[in-house]
Amino acid sequence: MNGLSASPRVDFASDNHAEAHPAVLAAIVAAARGPAPAYGGDRWTAAAEAGLRDLAGPGSVPLLVFNGTAANVLGLSVLLGPGDAIICAEHSHVAADECGAVEAMLGRKLLPAPAPDGKLTPAAIEAVLDRCTDVRTPRPSVVALTQATELGTCYSLRELAELRELCDRRGLRIYLDGARLANAVARLGCEVADIARFADALSLGFTKNGALGVDALLLMAPGIAERAPYLRRQQGQLASKMRFLAAQVGALLDGGLWLDNARHANAMCDHLAAELEPLPGLRLTQRVQSNAVFVALPRAATDYVRARWALDLLPTGETRLMTSHATAPADVNDLVEEVRASLK
Ligand SMILES: Cc1ncc(COP(=O)(O)O)c(C=O)c1O
Repeated sequence: MNGLSASPRVDFASDNHAEAHPAVLAAIVAAARGPAPAYGGDRWTAAAEAGLRDLAGPGSVPLLVFNGTAANVLGLSVLLGPGDAIICAEHSHVAADECGAVEAMLGRKLLPAPAPDGKLTPAAIEAVLDRCTDVRTPRPSVVALTQATELGTCYSLRELAELRELCDRRGLRIYLDGARLANAVARLGCEVADIARFADALSLGFTKNGALGVDALLLMAPGIAERAPYLRRQQGQLASKMRFLAAQVGALLDGGLWLDNARHANAMCDHLAAELEPLPGLRLTQRVQSNAVFVALPRAATDYVRARWALDLLPTGETRLMTSHATAPADVNDLVEEVRASLK
């Protein structure tokens, strides 16, 4: 027993805590029967890759990998040259949560820039460029964005266009960490391709969307795809039994389940935010634009709620509440009641 008395099926600590979607499990079981070619030579991989190309655009090149960190490392490795560095947001997953994977595996420096709402701005990027003008620092050549961001916010298409314009003008490429791209697409009401056209490479996460564990890297810029399969193999990200990764993607692409899942997670998040916002004694600290609510609660209230629900407490004292495809309205209502009680 972990001492948590509330629902054992759902918690709000992370969308990674969510159960696998039943359609994903069924697809894996179906794919498990009989032999199939290894390393992506199978029909499930062909179908998943075709579905991903349909989403991102006909010129895109998809590669499946085991997780989001791997997608980030592989995507950046394709874009970076020797001596290059990456401008990223201070709270970005690449800078803050991947144990320095990019630095360790690629030997490239990350240059974090302030982004209080998780979003890099043209001014923040220019400020880094202004600091890096000669050989004393590595040459910034890639800007890493996250969509939706680690702080639950989303770049608008207009903001992405402005960043693209700056990057084109300053000779920078764009890598977009799309571990929660589905939530951003659902929120913006756009297509994956509408976002992908601003990136040279991007990841499209399925793990937080109902998969057991698979994310996709999509290469958009012409001429960068040739080395990618070799780099994926070197980085230990070419699954021999690729059919099981691909079957998960196929299940989530089928009938737009990935988008339904993201819409549901976002709707649960909106419901949660709408219920929490009017409560006296707490404050939402970020705009709610995907499937995360950031809330500042009094310490005693935080402890009260955390004793009953698994929640993500940040070093700032804020709590991050995340919804997923598996969150039910009743779960949200239960949590809100708990928070209400904690504030008394
Ligand atoms: C923004 C972001 N990028 C990437 C990832 C992927 O991380 P992992 O390699 O742990 O699946 C996560 C997971 O939390 C994330 O939040």
